[in-house]
Amino acid sequence: MAKILVTGGLGYIGSHTVVELIQSGYEVVIVDNLSNSEKTVLDGIESITGVLPAFEELDICDEKAFQNCMTKHAKIDAIIHFAASKAVGESIEKSLDYYRNNVFGIIQLLSLMRNNNIKHLIFSSSCTVYGQPDKLPIDETAPRKPATSPYGNTKQMCEDIITDAITSYHDFTAILLRYFNPIGAHPSAKIGELPKGVPNNLVPYVTQTAAGIRKELSVFGDDYNTPDGSAIRDYIYVVDLAKAHVKAMQRLLACENKKEIEIFNLGTGNGVSVLELVKTFMNATGVNLPYKIVGRRAGDTEEVWADSSFAEKELGWTAKTPLTEVLASAWNWEKKVRGIK
Ligand code: NAD
Ligand code: UFG
Repeated sequence: MAKILVTGGLGYIGSHTVVELIQSGYEVVIVDNLSNSEKTVLDGIESITGVLPAFEELDICDEKAFQNCMTKHAKIDAIIHFAASKAVGESIEKSLDYYRNNVFGIIQLLSLMRNNNIKHLIFSSSCTVYGQPDKLPIDETAPRKPATSPYGNTKQMCEDIITDAITSYHDFTAILLRYFNPIGAHPSAKIGELPKGVPNNLVPYVTQTAAGIRKELSVFGDDYNTPDGSAIRDYIYVVDLAKAHVKAMQRLLACENKKEIEIFNLGTGNGVSVLELVKTFMNATGVNLPYKIVGRRAGDTEEVWADSSFAEKELGWTAKTPLTEVLASAWNWEKKVRGIK
C-alpha cells in the first residue's frame, strides 16, 4: 500500500481526494495548517471511509515542522500538493502573502522532497493559467497568457519552478493538473466546500442564497458575446476531479509516463453559462433563486471550457456526473451545514 502525503488535505478538493485515495487502498498522511479548513473535516472523512487518516497540523512553510513530519511518517511514496491560498481578489490585496504561501511553499516542498528521497508529485494548477484563450475548447498545448492576478501568477510560477527543478535534478516526476471550475459536494453530504465569509465563487453563493443567507445572487454581466450574454465556464464535479487524482497517482507510481513532467486539463468539455447554471439549480432542487443582473466583475474571462481528451486517453478518466446531480449535491451539503430539512 503506497503512502501518500496530501498537503491541504482538509480543504475542499483535498478532502474529497483523500476519500478517493483511501477508498482506492492508499495510506494517507494529511498536512494542513487549518488556515482555510476545519479539523472536523477529518470526522467526515472517517465517517465516509471508515478510516481515520494520519493528520499533522503544520504550515508547509515551516521547514522544521515539515521535516519532522516526513521523518515521522517515512517512507512517503508521493505527494499531492493542494495547500495554497486561492482567493483571486484577496491575492490582489495581499500579494506578498500569496507569493509567500504559494511560491515559497512549493520551493520548500520540492527541497524537502529531494532531502527525503520522495520522487513523485501531483500539483494543483488551474485553467486560470490560460487566461482568455484564443480558441475553444482549451487543450494543454494552448499558450499560457499573462496572469491577471497575483494568484494566477503564483500558479504559473509554481508550474515553472516544478519544471525547472525537474530539469535541474532529474530525480523525480510530476503531474500538473489544471482544474477548471470544481463544484459540488460528496454525495454523503459529510464533506463539502466551507467558504469563510462571503463566497467569491458562484456555486457557494447560489447555495447560500437558496438557504436565505444571501438576499440575491448577482449575475456578473449579461453583455458577453455568448448565447445568453452571461459568462461561460466548465463546471466539474469535485468527486470526479478527486478520482482524476487517483488515476494520476496510479500513473505516477507505475512510472507509466515516460516523461518527467506531464500536464492534464481536468474539465467536462461542456461550457455552461451563469444563467444556465442558475436555471439548472432551480430545476434540480425546486428552490427559487432570486437573482439580478449587475455589471461584469473585473478580471473575469468571457468563456472557458476544457478539452480533456488527453486525460481521457492517457489516464482513462472522464468527468461523468450530470450538472443537475452535482448542483443537488451542493444544495444537500448547504442544507446539512445550515441544519435545513
Ligand atoms: P482550500 O482552501 O479549500 O484548501 C486548501 C487547504 O490548504 C486548506 O485546508 C488550507 O487550510 C490549507 N493550507 C493553505 N496554506 C497552507 C500551508 N501553508 N500549510 C498547510 N496547509 C495550508 O482550497 P481548494 O479549493 O481545495 O483548492 C486546493 C488547490 O487547488 C489549491 O492549490 C488551489 O489553488 C487549487 N485550485 C482550486 C480551484 C477552485 O476553484 N477551488 C481551481 C483551480 C485550482
Ligand atoms: N459569478 C457571478 N456571481 C457570483 C459569483 C460568480 O455571476 O456571485 C460568475 C463569474 O463572473 C464567472 C462565473 O460565475 O463568470 C464563475 O465564477 P467563479 O468565481 O465561481 O469562478 P472563476 O471562473 O472566476 O474562477 C475559479 C476560481 C479560480 C480558478 C478558476 C479556474 O475562483 O481560483 O475557477 O479554476 F482559477
